[in-house]
Amino acid sequence: MTSENVPGLRVFLAGGAGVLGRRVIPLLTAAGHTVVATTRSPRRTGLLRDLEAEPVRVDAHDAGALAAAVRAAAPDVVLHQLTDLAGGDLAANARLREQGTRNLVAAALAAGVRRIVAQSICWTYVPGDGPAAESVPLDLGATEPRRTTVAGVAALEAAARELPEWVVLRYGMLYGPGTWFAPDGLRAAQAREGALRAGADVTSFVHVDDAATAAVTALGWPSGAVNVCDDEPAPAREWLPAFCRAVGAPPPPASDAPRDPAARGADNRHARRELGWRPAYPSWREGFATLAIDRDIPDNGHSRQFINGRVENSGDGHDEPMPAPGKVR
Ligand SMILES: NC(=O)c1ccc[n+]([C@@H]2O[C@H](COP(=O)([O-])OP(=O)(O)OC[C@H]3O[C@@H](n4cnc5c(N)ncnc54)[C@H](OP(=O)(O)O)[C@@H]3O)[C@@H](O)[C@H]2O)c1
Repeated sequence: MTSENVPGLRVFLAGGAGVLGRRVIPLLTAAGHTVVATTRSPRRTGLLRDLEAEPVRVDAHDAGALAAAVRAAAPDVVLHQLTDLAGGDLAANARLREQGTRNLVAAALAAGVRRIVAQSICWTYVPGDGPAAESVPLDLGATEPRRTTVAGVAALEAAARELPEWVVLRYGMLYGPGTWFAPDGLRAAQAREGALRAGADVTSFVHVDDAATAAVTALGWPSGAVNVCDDEPAPAREWLPAFCRAVGAPPPPASDAPRDPAARGADNRHARRELGWRPAYPSWREGFATLAIDRDIPDNGHSRQFINGRVENSGDGHDEPMPAPGKVR
């Protein structure tokens, strides 16, 4: 099934004002769905209304309030786009993945919701050669700090599977407006400081608009995990110079360190061939070229973008939930 033949649904969007949530809402309403979207912030309820979603203020760590909010919304589907990365706190994000998802799934089950679509990531597979397909196991034996990230992902995905119908979107590295890979984002700042090295570690990217489109299309996908990433997993020595050019940073310093075997990229053939997903940006090559001109959806001054000194400058990888070239894990 595709999003075009999914009838108008009531969607409970957990994380409606985030970088992905605010792109997803207009796509949902354009497709005829009704959206109840969460935020914790009174300042972001206006943004949600402007996007034609019904705002509900709730913290995912408050199980009772979340259950009441889902019950009141009476949704057909729960769309989980919660992350907690603005503070760069790996443990906080893992706690949201574990406990927040647990609360959301419990709320959905109590309200009789049959389907969940949940945001995950595609770089927690076991180490190996070549891009990982969805059948590759998660890297549960990783050492810290990666272990915390993998455990959070595993808990999120296991909880999602408790609903009768579930889709886990294993996103590639998000880039585009509002993300860390934007001209005003964290990685651009690091690139301007020469803090990212062009080495052998492989990353799979996805433009934030393609990630949003996949979330809406996934309302009609069969249960399963899906790598949602572009066609061209690439080593930093290929993509980082292009990223630096796009965000006005000098050419990056090179690294001759061997590839971290966990930095292998992901294979999107399931999404493309079996589910018919068609990213507008099949490669970061064309996607990065748009970075200088794309603009984010205004967020009423509530920016998650920047970011504290701890994340920007620690350089030890311990507060880096996502691989950064030369700073990995
Ligand atoms: N696959 C990827 O590469 C990937 C995935 C996620 C994030 N990132 C990067 O990380 C950057 C920052 O991410 P972020 O996590 O700060 O994102 P964000 O885009 O602000 O989204 C976080 C969402 O989760 C909600 N949320 C967080 N904690 C919550 C809680 N306890 N209860 C209820 N809702 C909660 C936020 O709601 P409020 O409105 O209440 O704040 C917001 O809607 C992004 O711009 C992106 O570059 C990358």
